[in-house]
Amino acid sequence: MVHNGIEYGDMQLIGEVYHLMLAIGINQEQMANTFEEWNKGELDSFLIDITKDILKFKDSDGKYLLPKIRDTAGQKGTGKWTAIAALNYGMPLTLIGEAVFSRCLSALKNERQKASQVLPGPSKKFSGDIKTFLEDIRQALYASKIVSYAQGFMLLREAAAVHNWDLDYGSIALMWRGGCIIRSVFLGQIKAAFDKDPNLRSLLLAPFFLDAITKAQNGWRNVVATAINLGIPTPALSTALAFYDGYRSERLPANLLQAQRDYFGAHTYELLGKEGTFVHTNWTGHGGNVSASTYDA
Ligand code: 3PG
Repeated sequence: MVHNGIEYGDMQLIGEVYHLMLAIGINQEQMANTFEEWNKGELDSFLIDITKDILKFKDSDGKYLLPKIRDTAGQKGTGKWTAIAALNYGMPLTLIGEAVFSRCLSALKNERQKASQVLPGPSKKFSGDIKTFLEDIRQALYASKIVSYAQGFMLLREAAAVHNWDLDYGSIALMWRGGCIIRSVFLGQIKAAFDKDPNLRSLLLAPFFLDAITKAQNGWRNVVATAINLGIPTPALSTALAFYDGYRSERLPANLLQAQRDYFGAHTYELLGKEGTFVHTNWTGHGGNVSASTYDA
């Protein structure tokens, strides 16, 4: 199930990259060549390889087949299953979630067609250097992929903790290389990271991936910012970056959220330095001192 969720994420990321390439005026032959080139390096994988083949494929009339295919994604439901499991276990698998919702949005073709006639977007055109930007896109794809796999392994780790499973994460990564849709060179690096540290908290903290994401970071941010400015939806690339920034934040604004919950529902909060003790404040002076102690999802 987690394999298929990750597969949804990888496919969504590749789709967003394709969309961005179209938006900046890369023709299909150049795209195919770019994917072919990428497949010789860090991104070497089955899905990048078949994307190159799909981009090259011409119909019986000699024209590319890909632009003729209706842009509505189907799904048999394994990505949705992963996303539901992530919600149930309380694990932020944001990229897989976005990948599932993106398929749902794509399926609203008739609605999108109508909206496209009405809703305005930015009028900006891409003005940067194509070669530099393509390298930024490659970095963004790679960094987002690292985040997605880190999230997938978070779900496995949480399920293992809940059910008292002894999971061999390196072997799971290796297993996904054997004939699987997400097979890639990258999975070998994941295996190596878990071999080095079987108790690795997050793939993001493994030296190999930390180094990769550090190098990719500027290009990644540029790609997400450019996509936003051009009005090209990149939910997976964007959520990966938002997750990365959230995960590396010692402080998040959840203190305000806790205060709001306590204000309107007496749901209580913990004070920094007094973890484990839940207190309620009578914020308005007339709300009373009774706190709610019902349940936590
Ligand atoms: C498959 O089994 O073919 C893949 O998991 C794809 O599933 P999907 O139809 O949900 O994309």
